[in-house]
Amino acid sequence: MILRCATSNAGKLAEFRLAAAALGCEWADIRPLDNVSALPPCEEDGADFEENAVKKALYYSAYCEDFLFADDSGLEVDALGGAPGVRSARYSPEGTDEANNRLLLERLAGSPDRRARFVCVIALARKGQLIATFRGSAEGVILDAPRGAGGFGYDPLFYYEPLGLTFAELDPDTKMRVSHRGEALRRLFDYCARLPRG
Ligand code: IMP
Repeated sequence: MILRCATSNAGKLAEFRLAAAALGCEWADIRPLDNVSALPPCEEDGADFEENAVKKALYYSAYCEDFLFADDSGLEVDALGGAPGVRSARYSPEGTDEANNRLLLERLAGSPDRRARFVCVIALARKGQLIATFRGSAEGVILDAPRGAGGFGYDPLFYYEPLGLTFAELDPDTKMRVSHRGEALRRLFDYCARLPRG
């Protein structure tokens, strides 16, 4: 089954394929949407992850015949009222991982409540029609200083208590097993496995 994804990001595509293989979903042939970078970009101005994922899936699925999925994800910090949330990628003016992490630590300075979660929502659509959405989340706490060299984004500050490690200290397979993205992808693949083929 061909599953198109609305990304031109090679890293994300590799992660989606890794998840499919790790979950035994070899039937899922994940391909980027042809010419995705030549299309006018879809503005991610939704109020939450679901709105953004749905918006992207509806927009990009109009450009192909196959099933297409789009994702949106980010970090919600309780003491910051759910920020950075949908603004996770561009939380700081610089918008780099380093500056975003620095700003997060500044905003949390002195706060005893460090609870946070990563959230990922995937929307599945076909030819401009929404089919379903799938949500995954991972609970953690924000450390006072970064730890670990793997991953990206807020991973070095996100301490995952069940394993006693930050997400930046996990190997990619383990991260996929416990992460918000892994959970949302597992739900997507379970759903697609039950769809009639053809
Ligand atoms: P997007 O879903 O690619 O738009 O990601 C939004 C932003 O959320 C990323 O740029 C990161 O800052 C953050 N984020 C999402 N998922 C992760 C993750 O697994 N680890 C670390 N940061 C993440």
